[in-house]
Amino acid sequence: MDVVQLGYFGIGSSRVDDWRTFGRGFLGMQPVDLGAGQLALRMDDRAHRFLVHRSSRDGMAYFGFEVADAAALERAAARLSNADVGLTRGSTAEQDIRRVAGMVWFADPDGNRVELFHGAAPSETPFVPARPIGGFRTGTLGLGHVVLMTDDFETMQRFYLETLGFRLSDFVTAPFRGAFTHVNARHHSLAILEGPKKSFHHVMVEYNFLDDVGRLYDKALIEPDRVSVTLGRHANDHMLSFYSRTPGGFMIETGWAGRLIDDATWQPHEVYGPSIWGHERSWLPPDARRQARALTDAAADRGVVEPLQVVDAPGFDLSPLSPRY
Ligand SMILES: [Fe+2]
Repeated sequence: MDVVQLGYFGIGSSRVDDWRTFGRGFLGMQPVDLGAGQLALRMDDRAHRFLVHRSSRDGMAYFGFEVADAAALERAAARLSNADVGLTRGSTAEQDIRRVAGMVWFADPDGNRVELFHGAAPSETPFVPARPIGGFRTGTLGLGHVVLMTDDFETMQRFYLETLGFRLSDFVTAPFRGAFTHVNARHHSLAILEGPKKSFHHVMVEYNFLDDVGRLYDKALIEPDRVSVTLGRHANDHMLSFYSRTPGGFMIETGWAGRLIDDATWQPHEVYGPSIWGHERSWLPPDARRQARALTDAAADRGVVEPLQVVDAPGFDLSPLSPRY
């Protein structure tokens, strides 16, 4: 299938005001009120990357993967129909609020609403972050990644790899089973973790500047119970990151310097554990936390280090910010 990037992320919320405060004050995204209890959060030159809809059900509502054009969307729809995946065409109202030219949606085996779309409209106005930060690393890499927890790991893995055609990057077997999949050069745009229940685990956004993640960590540390996973570095995508609790009941990972991979030469493989160092996970049960710590301790004992892939802020015009520095 011709999926090219994770394009947008939809949230249902009974606390839209909290999301506005969180998106603007904490994450530094640009909030845009769309009326009728709907809020867009911008990360770049697209009209939005996050959409919050007023709802009595709090949490992830959907995520949208982009395909190249209308023909690619029709090809994808035909392939899903052949695989007996029940498809629904996006309504005009749904496509309008998402600012896309075409959309279809379906439920994955766990019931998560997955959307495929094409033709995302750029915003009429330039992106202005809510705080003087160096913006987000998006572009053709997409908005970041989403991670799903499932109690039916095999079925979910098969669906994303075989039915949707996502490519396996690598996998872990401890302290939980996890499969990391890519659709472009970003190491993973979607991952599946095995756990006790079906739930939305986290969404990740990547900052252009290390110092912005550091300052965000300063902010998070002084808020009671904000940090859910401490600062650390992932063993597979090499992302330096920490995780925070959101008003939606799931976590957001905020990171820097994620690794890019070359699909032509990349070989899927097992990774020794989820993190090189750090990432103390408050969401894990005590046994699994001990196992995670043992894995990072073992990596330290072996002296495992990974290279940093640092890029200039890609395509982000810093000139509007410079007077503030
Ligand atoms: Fe992540």
